[in-house]
Amino acid sequence: MPSVYIKTYGCQMNERDSEAVAAQLVAKGYTLAASEHVADVVLLNTCSVRDNAEQTALNKMSSVIGLGRKERPGQIFGFMGCMAQSRGKELVDRLPDLDLVLGTQKFHRAAEYLDELLAGRRKHIVDTAAETGSEGTIREHLLNGSAKGKSVTAFVSIMQGCNQYCTFCIVPYTRGEERSRSIEDIVTECRKLVAQGVREITLLGQIVTSYGRRRPLTPFLSPSDGERVSKPGEGFVQNLVAPPLPSPFLPPRKEKEESPFVQLLEAVHAIDGLERIRFTSPHPKGYGDDLVEAYARLPKLVASAHLPVQSGSDRVLKLMHRGYTRARFLQIIHKLRAARPGMGITSDIVVGFPGETEADFEETLSLCREVEFDNAYLFKYSQRKDTPAAAMPDQIPEELIEGRHARLLETVNAIGKRKYDAFIGQLVRILVEGPSKKNSARFTGRTPCNKIVLFDGSERHRGQLLDVKITRTGSFTLYGDPAIVGL
Ligand code: 5AD
Repeated sequence: MPSVYIKTYGCQMNERDSEAVAAQLVAKGYTLAASEHVADVVLLNTCSVRDNAEQTALNKMSSVIGLGRKERPGQIFGFMGCMAQSRGKELVDRLPDLDLVLGTQKFHRAAEYLDELLAGRRKHIVDTAAETGSEGTIREHLLNGSAKGKSVTAFVSIMQGCNQYCTFCIVPYTRGEERSRSIEDIVTECRKLVAQGVREITLLGQIVTSYGRRRPLTPFLSPSDGERVSKPGEGFVQNLVAPPLPSPFLPPRKEKEESPFVQLLEAVHAIDGLERIRFTSPHPKGYGDDLVEAYARLPKLVASAHLPVQSGSDRVLKLMHRGYTRARFLQIIHKLRAARPGMGITSDIVVGFPGETEADFEETLSLCREVEFDNAYLFKYSQRKDTPAAAMPDQIPEELIEGRHARLLETVNAIGKRKYDAFIGQLVRILVEGPSKKNSARFTGRTPCNKIVLFDGSERHRGQLLDVKITRTGSFTLYGDPAIVGL
């Protein structure tokens, strides 16, 4: 049977999509190759968030094809994911030896298309069409299939797409409209994972806090009149219909009702044997009081939140179409920390959005000082095709973006270092995930507040919740003393 090598660029959603494709191919008899040099099929799962990520994948594919054509005749090459979706056939025009372009709603068709290509029945396949129900197709896992050993943590895709349309962001165009799986479907997948030994689940989606807010495209529509039918046990309660189209069939949304996302968290929380729940990526506007209260109420929900703020300036936030103000963002942070003291808080920030003035940028610096993020991922603004910001006046010159990025990085790193150093001497409870990637003599686990801890452990620690005393820190890493492990 053929072997496949999948290289993944970008976010955790991409990692999860690659895993699901790999699992699908393994189920069809494919083997997983260690590198592109020994694989019959090479797939690059791509990221479009910044131009840099696209160029890296394009360069990689050119070199893989160049080498493959010389050394492995018949090797199959494919792009999948976000850049495949946004560029489509243009990719084949650019790289005529490319065999497959698989869009973000087509991952489940990978095996079928590769069969065709390997058998020589088709020369090129480009499929980037929308597909109803595709949000429910990222469900297969490769838990124990690799040399990594038994998985303690797993990603579960709960929804696809984004309707927020931030003016800088390409994701609504690459991932499509928001579509959610039912609570029942997700819980069934989580239960299976826990039965196989998984102890921590990360719920994934492009904007998880909007989970279930839009009418799902596929299920539950009665064929006769389009009325929403909430079958018992299907998980969607009756009010989950997108505003602003009031339905005569559904009761109005009550103020105090929990959002579908919080309902999902509760359902997953009820799974016996599951120890920890994480999720990413949320939108700050989704942190209503119900979600804040969930942190106080649900012990398995870890004390960690990723809140992408993007900018500290109200003027820029508005231009970005973020839907919150600086003051509202600070209020959410305050409430979260009150609900869960010691909460780890991270963020994403875009530097150099069009029209960002020195004063705007200073507001971002001051917000970082005020919040004291444990870490923040800084992105240099990159113009993306068809996004409103790409056509905005006052695009910021590269040197200015570089300078601001360096200043912000220095601030964020200094705050992060202080926060990490404060753990020295503390006892933290980590869930041990396995050997560290860089040094397999070391084991790695994470604190509830999402900090990586390295310690001299062994296989017997895998999957355990261990109390470890922190002795020193590295760059965004904590080290636990092996002598005190298990105290
Ligand atoms: N330029 C730079 N960064 C971007 N991001 C999204 N779009 C862009 C862009 N055009 C960043 C945001 C987002 C993260 C995943 O990527 O900060 O939260």
